[in-house]
Amino acid sequence: MADNKLQGKVAIVTGGASGIGEATARRFADRGARAVVIADIQDEKGLNIAASIGLEVCAYVHCDVSDEEQVKTLVQSTVEKYGRLDVMFSNAGITSLADQTILDFDFAAYEKLFAVNVRGMATSVKHAARAMVEERVRGSIICTASVVASMGTPLCTDYTMSKLAVVGLVRSASLQLAGHGIRVNSVSPGTVGTPLLREMFGIGENVDLDEFVESCSRLKGVMRAKNVADAVVFLASEDSEFVTGHDLVVDGGFFAAV
Ligand SMILES: NC(=O)c1ccc[n+]([C@@H]2O[C@H](COP(=O)([O-])OP(=O)(O)OC[C@H]3O[C@@H](n4cnc5c(N)ncnc54)[C@H](O)[C@@H]3O)[C@@H](O)[C@H]2O)c1
Repeated sequence: MADNKLQGKVAIVTGGASGIGEATARRFADRGARAVVIADIQDEKGLNIAASIGLEVCAYVHCDVSDEEQVKTLVQSTVEKYGRLDVMFSNAGITSLADQTILDFDFAAYEKLFAVNVRGMATSVKHAARAMVEERVRGSIICTASVVASMGTPLCTDYTMSKLAVVGLVRSASLQLAGHGIRVNSVSPGTVGTPLLREMFGIGENVDLDEFVESCSRLKGVMRAKNVADAVVFLASEDSEFVTGHDLVVDGGFFAAV
């Protein structure tokens, strides 16, 4: 029997043209969502994914999350088209543009990263929450943080800082929105084989990522984007009706071993 945990829901997925966002957009549609709006800056990929999910349920919208006006327009156009917004999966993110050890910290690179990973998350939460409050929707907002939010890292200092900022955003927003019945949580993936991971570790397209991904998990096997997507479906659905302000780690036991 089909599992329709998200029956009738209207959802936005930022960064939905690739990796974890793409897998989650597909899961949302499989789980009965009425509409899934993929928001990204990779137009060709986004359009193709929306078409492969099915244009009767999925749409692609160009949106650079670092630009508040674009995020506001994304949310407004979604509400105009579908009448409401139930789920915001704020997931778009980039990795460090340089090594970013503290001795060689490049502040221009840090500002570019924070514009997406922190400001982009905050604008997405802000405008989704405003739409939910206005339409009196008891919605669910989920942000993508990372296991690195709970640890230090030898490189990518700005990326690690940005993910801890996401957890702070989620905790504060969850308190502020609880009175409206709106839940705000984060999902913290361990290591997933996506283009971002290749970029972070300088791994070429010709190298299979599975071995590396498996070495980052204590649980036997290779964690996939769909495993994170299943956790996001849980947080988006009524199954997590009383879960808010929570950071759900999905890492095959990696962090338990740190
Ligand atoms: N892959 C991992 O191991 C891992 C681990 C922990 C957390 N994460 C987080 O998961 C999220 C998704 O990453 P992924 O691994 O699927 O990477 P990915 O590169 O496959 O997907 C990221 C998507 O975000 C989009 N994006 C980038 N900048 C954008 C912007 N300004 N506006 C709108 N969209 C933008 C990209 O075009 C891309 O489609 C990120 O927040 C990342 O930090 C990934």
